[in-house]
Order: sequence, then C-alpha cells, then structure tokens
Amino acid sequence: MLDVVSDHNWQYEAFRGDVLSGLSQAQKSIPSRWLYDDLGSELFERITRLEEYYPTRTETALLTAHAEAIASFSGDGAVVLEYGAGAGIKTEILIAALRAPRFYVPIDIAADFLEQTVARFRARFPAVTTRPIVADFTAPFELPAWVPEERRLAFFPGSTIGNLDASEARQFLRRMRHHLGCRGRAIIGADLKKPLDVLIPAYDDAAGVTAQFNLNLLRRVNRELGGDFALERFVHSARWNPAESAVEMHLVSRNPQTVMVAGRRFHFAAGESIHTESSRKYDAAGFEALARSGGWRVSDSWSDSGGRFALFGLRPVAS
Ligand SMILES: C[S@@+](CC[C@H](N)C(=O)[O-])C[C@H]1O[C@@H](n2cnc3c(N)ncnc32)[C@H](O)[C@@H]1O
Repeated sequence: MLDVVSDHNWQYEAFRGDVLSGLSQAQKSIPSRWLYDDLGSELFERITRLEEYYPTRTETALLTAHAEAIASFSGDGAVVLEYGAGAGIKTEILIAALRAPRFYVPIDIAADFLEQTVARFRARFPAVTTRPIVADFTAPFELPAWVPEERRLAFFPGSTIGNLDASEARQFLRRMRHHLGCRGRAIIGADLKKPLDVLIPAYDDAAGVTAQFNLNLLRRVNRELGGDFALERFVHSARWNPAESAVEMHLVSRNPQTVMVAGRRFHFAAGESIHTESSRKYDAAGFEALARSGGWRVSDSWSDSGGRFALFGLRPVAS
C-alpha cells in the first residue's frame, strides 16, 4: 500500500499546471520531476549504467569504500528516509552497511516505479520495515504518523539536489530538517565541478539513451495532456550554464512549428528550446554554504581521489 500525501488527482493537476505555465514563458521549460514516468524511470536506470555517466559509479564506490564510517555517522537502529528513491540501488548498499536499521521509507513522485523498489527491499531486507511515500519533495508535506520519530536518517543521493535551484534547494533542506528533527542526520550525494569534456558526455551519451530520456517527456505530455508533439521534430541538447554552474538539458525545435497541449497552442521558432533539467555542480565550500542556509552543518564528507563526487554527512544546526 502506498501512502499518497495528497488527493489522487494531484499529479495530473500539477503536471498540467507546470507544463502550461512552463511553455508560456520566454524560455520555455518543464520541471525535471516530470521526466520520471515509468519509461523515464527505466531510462534513467539505463543512464546510470552508461560508461559516460560517472556519477553513479563514483557514488556507489564511495558508499562501499566508506561503509564503516558511514554506519558510525548514521548510528544504530536508523529510520532511513530517502528523498527521490528511484530504484534505490545505492540504498541497498547503505542499508546493508548500517547497524540494525529499523525502517526504510523511500519517497518519490514516480508511484508505480516505487512499488517495484519496495518489493525488492522487502524481499532482501525482511527485518527492515519498508513503507513508501508518494510525494513531491519540492512542495511542503508532513510525514505520516507511522514514521518513527527517533533516529531518522535522510539519504538524498544521485546529486538530485543539483536539480534544484538555490532557493528550491534551501527550502528542501529546511523541509528535510523539519522532517528529521534536531537529532536527525543526513547523507547527501553531490556532483563536483569538473572539466566540460567529462561533464557534457555524461548528459549526452554516444548511445543516445539520455536523448531518449529527455524526449520521453514530450511523449508523456502527449499521452497525459493530449499533446501533439512530433518527437522527431525535436533534438536533445546538453549545454553548460556557467552562471548556474550547471549542465542543462534542452529539447530544441528543429523547425518553426505550432504544438497543441491541453487545448492550448504553443509556437516554436527554429532552434527554440524547452529547458527540461539543470544539474548543478558544487565545490565543498559552496555545498557547505548551501547546507548552512538550509539549517545544517557538514560534519563529515567522503570523496573520491579524482574529486569527482562527494557524499556529505550533515547534522542539524541548533535552532
Ligand atoms: C536523479 S534520480 C536519482 C535516483 C536514485 N536516488 C539514484 O541516486 O540513482 C531522481 C529521482 O528522484 C525522483 N524525483 C525527482 N524529482 C522529484 C520530486 N520533486 N519529488 C519526488 N521525487 C522526485 C525521480 O522520480 C527519480 O526517482
């Protein structure tokens, strides 16, 4: 049974609102959370296994190499809350390393995909109570009363935090602080700044899986919002935005065209794009400042020798 922290229609209404307002802006955009329908979630898992996509490999190796230290940081009997759980592959490593973890609460917007993750965890960790929550972590929500209050540990891997702009990230960190209380702990994975010849291919792989992942958003708009996007008239592009320190994904219109969505008409000039995702890259000082602004301090961190990716261990700043 999935706990849905709102009424059943919220995803449809939220998606429709985001798409219609996003396509009405001068720089057209659709928030990246809508990339993850069933097929999008599967395509993302394929991306994580690509040669070019170093973040998953690096973060997984960090969790394995520092399992002891991470278990000490986390404490015994943890109640693990994972924001944006997806397939939870890294969480299997974390839970296996923790000492007597009690609960696993994966939180994700992609409800059907989450059910598969839950089934896998229940089979692999029968001593851990696994109960999911379907919610949008960029909006306020309260944890259900069944989540034990003691020893809450937030896990937010995958550099999903980098998909949020500075203000969204600050609000998210404050929300997480509210969920965890003054004795909570958090482990956040963050991708680090690095040369563009490594960064860009990670978001524009040779096999075209990331392009499929991005274009699938238009397929979702067609299916769920009665859109008539012709996918072959758009091309995937990954570009660096230095002001945001982010790799951005766009869908670029190959030619001038008009598209209908939910009964509304949107015009595209040739070369005009829809911005679909930003993946911000951090340095340690920048991440620490962000964490502080959200009510946390970095007490521990684990990084690879190449300085590609970091796991930050956070404790609440006394309020
Ligand atoms: C980049 S993937 C990371 C998946 C996994 N944690 C990992 O590290 O490989 C982002 C995950 O967060 C979920 N997600 C994205 N935006 C979300 C939001 N606003 N609220 C809840 N879940 C969200 C997606 O459905 C997806 O499963």
